[in-house]
Amino acid sequence: MPAILQNVNNNQWFDKEMQMEFIDLRSDTVTLPTDEMRQAMANATVGDDVYGEDPTVNRLQEMMAELVGMEAGLFVASGTMGNVVAVLTHAGRGDEMLLGDLAHTFLYEGGAAAGLGGVHPHILPNEDDGTIDLDGIERAIRPENVHFPTSRLLCLEDTHNRCGGAAIGPEYLDAAARLAHSHGMAVHLDGARLFNASVALGIPAAQLTRSMDSVMICLSKGLGAPVGSVLCGTRSFIDRALRVRKVLGGGMRQAGIIAAAGVYALEKNIDRLKEDHANAARLAEGIDSIPGLRCTSHDGSKVPTNLVYFAVDGATVGDPSLNADVLSLRLRKRGVLANSLGSSNQMRMVTHIGISSADIEQSIAALRSAMEET
Ligand SMILES: Cc1ncc(COP(=O)(O)O)c(C=O)c1O
Repeated sequence: MPAILQNVNNNQWFDKEMQMEFIDLRSDTVTLPTDEMRQAMANATVGDDVYGEDPTVNRLQEMMAELVGMEAGLFVASGTMGNVVAVLTHAGRGDEMLLGDLAHTFLYEGGAAAGLGGVHPHILPNEDDGTIDLDGIERAIRPENVHFPTSRLLCLEDTHNRCGGAAIGPEYLDAAARLAHSHGMAVHLDGARLFNASVALGIPAAQLTRSMDSVMICLSKGLGAPVGSVLCGTRSFIDRALRVRKVLGGGMRQAGIIAAAGVYALEKNIDRLKEDHANAARLAEGIDSIPGLRCTSHDGSKVPTNLVYFAVDGATVGDPSLNADVLSLRLRKRGVLANSLGSSNQMRMVTHIGISSADIEQSIAALRSAMEET
């Protein structure tokens, strides 16, 4: 350890030391561009995007804006950059953003909103289904008072990563936005996996974003592109966001090369997300049938989208030392990569375009054998 991983056969990983191919369930970020996607990238028409002259970037931004029913889009390097640009465009130094305690923006973005923009995070408990209690939001909004920061922004997340990939429906999103707007606040949606929510709920993405002031969608997760996200909002919001992106060093030049993968992903890879959801549901069913493992999705073993979280309880199978870290290593020996969440004794497996239903059966068998190892 660490083993050398190199890419073979496009969607498989190979461990040179162990001479083994891996089924990679660590994240949907590990997907690799297919030959057709690479072809689309190679053939992309490009220009200087800082001058607004890259036709492929412009096309991608327009396509995404149309899909989410907003006026304009902005291509950014990553989901984190999209969220940070959004927060810094909506809010200024000393302003406050309300967000869930399990939000990606709170947990995993290096404190960027506070560190770079001086925006004060005010966290509220996330419910198991990814929502934040509306009364709790109302109580948290600050009255006008010189002692308080100004409540400026509410951040929501759909699907909700740490809440088991929960798909939050339009009723809640609309109600939360009504509340925020009635207090003069804007609402940003971290829609890194927005199309997973749309496919799982069987409704157009625009229905989820109709009350939002901005939304960020990742291309390099379930959609299978190698890089990039798009931030969408009104024309005037995106004009201001463009300046923030530039200040963060995110102005790219002939970015159409990578935007072409995004265009391809939007054309070809949205509908197929249902296959990832079906694979995740089967994986969850398999996990729940193994003694010592229990799915922790908010709806029992009914995993809503492509993220499968489960708890490891070695004591129930007579091995108290068998925790998530140990299980992760045992799985690796069996050719399956999955992330341990460490001290919480939970693990996460994520289905994606590189995972077949046969891989799922193999992974369930590996889990069973790893739990039985003595
Ligand atoms: C919900 C959510 N938002 C934002 C991000 C950030 O995306 P990136 O890794 O492209 O910065 C992630 C990444 O996993 C995510 O799960």
